[in-house]
Amino acid sequence: MSNKFYITTPIYYVNDKPHIGHAYTTILADVLSRFHRNSGSEVFFLTGLDEHGQKVQQAAESRNVSPQEHCDEFALRFLQLWEKLEIKYDDFIRTTQDRHIKVVQAVLQKVYDDGDIYQSEYEGWYSVAEERFITETEMKSGEFRDVKSIKEKNWFFKMSKYQKPLIEHIEANPDYIQPKHRRNEIMGFLKQPLGDLCISRPKSRMNWGIDLPFDKAYVTYVWWDALINYITAPGYNVDEENFSKWWPAEYHLIGKDILTTHAVYWSTMLLSMGMPLPKAIFAHGWWLTGDTKMSKSLGNIVNPLDLVGEYGVDSVRYYLMREMVLGQDANYNFESFVKRYNSDLANDFGNLLNRVSGLINKYFDGYIPAAHEVTDAEKVVQDIGTGLADKVNGLIERMRVHEAIEEVMILIRQVNKYLEQQAPWKVAKTDLPAAGRILYTATEALRLSAVLLSPVMPGKTNKVLDILGAHGTGEKWGELAPENKLKAHEALFPRLETE
Ligand code: ME8
Ligand code: MG
Repeated sequence: MSNKFYITTPIYYVNDKPHIGHAYTTILADVLSRFHRNSGSEVFFLTGLDEHGQKVQQAAESRNVSPQEHCDEFALRFLQLWEKLEIKYDDFIRTTQDRHIKVVQAVLQKVYDDGDIYQSEYEGWYSVAEERFITETEMKSGEFRDVKSIKEKNWFFKMSKYQKPLIEHIEANPDYIQPKHRRNEIMGFLKQPLGDLCISRPKSRMNWGIDLPFDKAYVTYVWWDALINYITAPGYNVDEENFSKWWPAEYHLIGKDILTTHAVYWSTMLLSMGMPLPKAIFAHGWWLTGDTKMSKSLGNIVNPLDLVGEYGVDSVRYYLMREMVLGQDANYNFESFVKRYNSDLANDFGNLLNRVSGLINKYFDGYIPAAHEVTDAEKVVQDIGTGLADKVNGLIERMRVHEAIEEVMILIRQVNKYLEQQAPWKVAKTDLPAAGRILYTATEALRLSAVLLSPVMPGKTNKVLDILGAHGTGEKWGELAPENKLKAHEALFPRLETE
């Protein structure tokens, strides 16, 4: 893997509590960050909050508090959730922070000075729910909620000027927009002439935003403000050394709902600024309940905290990562959670720990036996184990997270089968070194699995490594030291019984 890895999540609106959709993107970014850190990359993982705009202003008004008070309260909920979910971000940005306001104004001034911002009259439709102007066709589609007709003088960004350069960039960089079907979607969108982008709101209508540096009667459009967070955090215009170390980002991770704002608005903003574009924008699908998107405004959300409180953070992280095929939609339901938990975590992974520790306690007094000479049966397991890290990291590199996890599960299932076939509990009665060889092999496979699953389940895998006395061991086969005494433990993932 390359040696620096800058990954971002969307910055979430603070108009309501975080739900499982937000948790998903953030866990995914955390998992990818941890995989890249484990294989030696220097990682910068950025997440944060989008605090300006009409939606947030309305949310504050309806609660009878000032917008800033509202933001501060809701920011806490996100921060607490990330802590519960073991999200190890490197920076948390809030768009009301001074550092960000300064950068947004510097960017506006630069683009204005370069002649890419002009004033004009706007008449058309605005969707408050999406915080963007929509076209007549979009209006007629009926897919947009909270739509208002607006006629006002505003400031515009010459987005149209960058349509051609953007198309050329996408063509020259096939991986710029991922997955492929999202790239096709944007290329289709760019077949129509691209309009200019309204980037201001008159204060008389909406004042919760960043002042335009060249016209104090206006605040900045919330998307223009928000997208810039990706360059504020690494130090654009403030810490050039740190900034050039991290920018361009390897990945902007987003949901498919905000693909246009990233692939088109953000890209053209950067083109106007003469800056390199991010290496990739990756849009994942939606978590659905039934057939509809889970969303705050639809009120059909699953609260991640409830799940975590009940079943533990690691099993929730595992479920979300294993169940969604990156790029496609996935259906959340409790039955599939229980099924996944019981089959993969209780029966396969948890059971492997129980078996090896039970047998090592019984026949080796709790001390991990040495492998001695291995036979063909061990070689089968060893061969899978030896190539596994490369396989897993290769899949992660290609954003195939669920397949990377499945590769580890294949080893775990293979080892459970190997134990049944080899029956060390029988072998031990006549040939103790042979039983030792079998148990070393199984325990080493368990250790390696824990290391490779640690980005997904940091807590439980850490527990396994602790039991084995294998903290700090790596991704190579054979790093488990024999002669360590196993620590006592409880079931890793007790089976869930549901009626
Ligand atoms: O759009 N399934 O913020 P937002 C999967 N502030 N992911 C989901 C989801 C679901 N059902 N629901 C939400 C905004 N998400 C802007 C972003 S970025 C410069 C500004 C995730 O609070 C997914 O990542 O509406 C989606 O893109 C994001 O939350 C939208 O969060
Ligand atoms: Mg949204």
